[in-house]
Amino acid sequence: MIIEQIYTGCLAQGAYYIQSENEAAIIDPLREVGPYIDRAERGNAKIRYVFETHFHADFVSGHLDLAAKSGAEVVFGPTAKPNFKAHIGVDGEEFKIGKIRLKLLHTPGHTMESACYLLIDETGVERILFSGDTLFIGDVGRPDLAQKAANMTREELAGLLYESLKNKIMPLNDDIIVYPAHGAGSACGKNLSKETFDTLGHQKKTNYALNLKLSKEDFIEQVTTGLMPPPGYFPLNVGLNKGGYESFDIVLARGLTKLSPENFEMITELEDTLILDTRHQKEFIKEHIPGSIFIGIDGDFAPWVGALIPRIDQKIAIVAEQGREEEVITRLARVGYDQCIGYLDGGIVAWKKSGRTVQSMESITVDMFAKLNANASINILDVRKKSEFDSQHILGAVNLPLDYINESMATIEKHKTFYVHCAGGYRSVIFISILNSRGFTNLINVEGGMNAIKQNNRFVMTEYVCPTTML
Ligand SMILES: [Fe+2]
Repeated sequence: MIIEQIYTGCLAQGAYYIQSENEAAIIDPLREVGPYIDRAERGNAKIRYVFETHFHADFVSGHLDLAAKSGAEVVFGPTAKPNFKAHIGVDGEEFKIGKIRLKLLHTPGHTMESACYLLIDETGVERILFSGDTLFIGDVGRPDLAQKAANMTREELAGLLYESLKNKIMPLNDDIIVYPAHGAGSACGKNLSKETFDTLGHQKKTNYALNLKLSKEDFIEQVTTGLMPPPGYFPLNVGLNKGGYESFDIVLARGLTKLSPENFEMITELEDTLILDTRHQKEFIKEHIPGSIFIGIDGDFAPWVGALIPRIDQKIAIVAEQGREEEVITRLARVGYDQCIGYLDGGIVAWKKSGRTVQSMESITVDMFAKLNANASINILDVRKKSEFDSQHILGAVNLPLDYINESMATIEKHKTFYVHCAGGYRSVIFISILNSRGFTNLINVEGGMNAIKQNNRFVMTEYVCPTTML
């Protein structure tokens, strides 16, 4: 028996490869399915099943492409109604893979069709629980995402989750290994641990949601308190996972279209196309195509794309570090942004060589920022999350989290000068690039963000929550 967790940091997502004898199964594959097919080939195995723990909201799963390429059957939990051929399992149903079995446990709550898969080994012993978004390490799946689909309130869904945990998960043996669909950083829960697996026994002792003393009412209150609004792309990804999507091969081929500077300019001027620059922020600050948006590939790329680009069918032309174009297109497709129409061939160097203009972003060191702050009353925008801002911030700074820039943009006065910082200098550049593309010209980036500010020691900091300030 082979069990492999294939963890993708950008999405904090765990997919699983399972093999026994010459048969294999994949749980919750990502959009690009080549690695799973290669893995099965290396193991001389045939992929029999693609198990989906639920209709994911935070990424587009590769179940359809993987089924088409491998001949595997796609399995969903009870009540799932996808728009394509799939096996809709029943509670307790067992699936054979070589000499082992996977038993479907219907665990509604996070979503109605949510299912966990319990692995029973060659000797008949229950060994592993693939817990999807029902049970995370240190947390459980949020119960507010499927309200519309289920026609239920989040409290009602939380109540179902309580019953699922109590009746289906708690009775299982303590030495079972829990392999969840997500780890720390995922927006599918509130407070996931950075660990990516654990024993069920340890979770029973440490996970607040598995506390036997917690009444149903208290559980409902705990899991529904402090939930942030989900990213805008979540329902759109559910739609693709449920309704189907274009093959990733087609998406990739389209995205890999080389565009000369002339064609790149023509397409982006004529059509409703977003220029997305994915290079390092230092490169973007130095020079970029006027009007382009920065979201660097070396950050939490896909979640930021999903949070900030409102339309999933947005046409995108990319400026990437040379040789990383395929990675960019793949990571866009993982969250359903399939309309990448090509990339700037030769990158920014070719653009400049062709005589076209570039612009830079005004950016200052923390040292200069400290001097300005000491001598004048300046406007400071802190674009970190509210929780980060609440824990510590510069006295007088105003919090406008990057996550909600599309909603808060209207509150920023165009004629005022703002100094913008985040935690490390990634989010502030995204923030300014978006505002610059909308005609704001007085935003100045603070390099290195809060990490550099703290080291500087010349700022008055506060740990108290500032009242909301109108700009
Ligand atoms: Fe989920």
